[in-house]
Amino acid sequence: MEQRRPLIAGNWKMYKTPEEAAETAQQLVERVTGVTDVDIMIAPTCAALAPVFKVIKNSPVALGAQNLFWENEGAYTGEISAPMLKSVGCEYGIIGHSERRQYFGETDETVNKKIQAAIQVGLKPVFCVGETEKERESEQTFSVLDKQVTKGLVSLVSEQLDMLIIAYEPVWAIGTGKTATDAQAQEVHQFIRSLVEKNFGNALSDSIRILYGGSVKPDNIAGLMSMPDIDGALVGGASLNAESFSQIVKFKN
Ligand code: PGA
Repeated sequence: MEQRRPLIAGNWKMYKTPEEAAETAQQLVERVTGVTDVDIMIAPTCAALAPVFKVIKNSPVALGAQNLFWENEGAYTGEISAPMLKSVGCEYGIIGHSERRQYFGETDETVNKKIQAAIQVGLKPVFCVGETEKERESEQTFSVLDKQVTKGLVSLVSEQLDMLIIAYEPVWAIGTGKTATDAQAQEVHQFIRSLVEKNFGNALSDSIRILYGGSVKPDNIAGLMSMPDIDGALVGGASLNAESFSQIVKFKN
């Protein structure tokens, strides 16, 4: 089986002005210079993308967007397209984060369109899925994930998906301090990988990176990363501070 390269991604959500974002990015670059065995990404707000890119351009840190629209251009006030994100230095685009689904009406259908738009311009989609607490308690976790993964990737074929990354983020673990246990996360990651295998074959299911997200911290990353189907993390709160995020990046040390 192919060795999957870990990806540690920071989602800065709606925090930090462009100046603050550039400063944190600079502090991060200083701490991760020389890291070669892990891919690193940070996703600041749109307003901070260009100033952050200036700082990280020649470093191991890559740029990501938190959202995008599926059309390339047009009369869509307030939206930003995948080619625009590419042009300011983005390599990744987070798509379908649970906060987007919860507060901004994103559905499996819009998520699917966004994934297609990202792939078309070579922006690596970080496709987020995850169950709510209620869904977990009523034992719907697997059926919810099956629906999200299947509908989110509808009409895509395996040849288009080599740049896809999936992030499993149980909604009940986001920003709550309640992390899924290593075993709980592994169980779901294994299930997601089996869904990818069923729908797209085992070449893709072997190579696809599946990140865990939800209250990842320096003290729980090593346990999560020791699980065979966890290939990285999507980090919110703990990514806002360069020191704690760099400790997560260096989980092997
Ligand atoms: P958290 O957020 O690490 O603060 O729980 C994760 C996310 O929303 O991606």
